[in-house]
Amino acid sequence: MVVETVVVAIWVMLPAYIPNNVAVLAGGGRPIDNGMTLDDGKRLLGDGKTWRGTAFGTAAGVAVALALNQLHPFVSGGVAADPFPIAAAVSLAFGAMLGDILASFLKRRTGRERGAVFPGVDQLDFVVVSLVLTAVVATGWFLETFTLGVLVAVFVLTPVLHVSTNAIAYALGLKDEPW
Ligand code: CTP
Ligand code: MG
Repeated sequence: MVVETVVVAIWVMLPAYIPNNVAVLAGGGRPIDNGMTLDDGKRLLGDGKTWRGTAFGTAAGVAVALALNQLHPFVSGGVAADPFPIAAAVSLAFGAMLGDILASFLKRRTGRERGAVFPGVDQLDFVVVSLVLTAVVATGWFLETFTLGVLVAVFVLTPVLHVSTNAIAYALGLKDEPW
């Protein structure tokens, strides 16, 4: 069933979708790279990747996974996904932050300033890294949960959700750019 597949895709990816948005709200303070530049004269990561944003983003993603686990028995008909093992809760949330950080590393190496667009990478960086990390640390749950249909749904839905939430955050004045 397509609807069920889409529901599972969104449900299991929520712990990876939340961190970047929370980082936007909670970010600030000391950048992870501490201002460091590489030989190319560009920042390692840039001022947009902070310890506070990363910590709060990761914690929020884990909290969402734990909350979904509590909700699981009450969702009518049940969601066709097993509850998040703690390892998956952490890997989905932290993987999302790590993917975004790696993307900033690549942006700086390709001469893109903070806030520049990087089509494709911006929309999927966090999904790829959170899925790969989850496949490594919670392999059984990953294989059980991410059927081919769910994976297809994730890769189709994520760019759509990403573009629309960022446009909303921009319209609300929470973000400096609409991407
Ligand atoms: N943020 C943060 N820590 C992170 C990720 C994001 O503090 N690990 C906050 C920063 O305030 C950042 C904002 O969320 O400016 C928006 O995130 P993002 O669009 O990923 O960063 P950019 O500022 O656009 O920088 P970059 O070009 O490196 O993506
Ligand atoms: Mg940005």
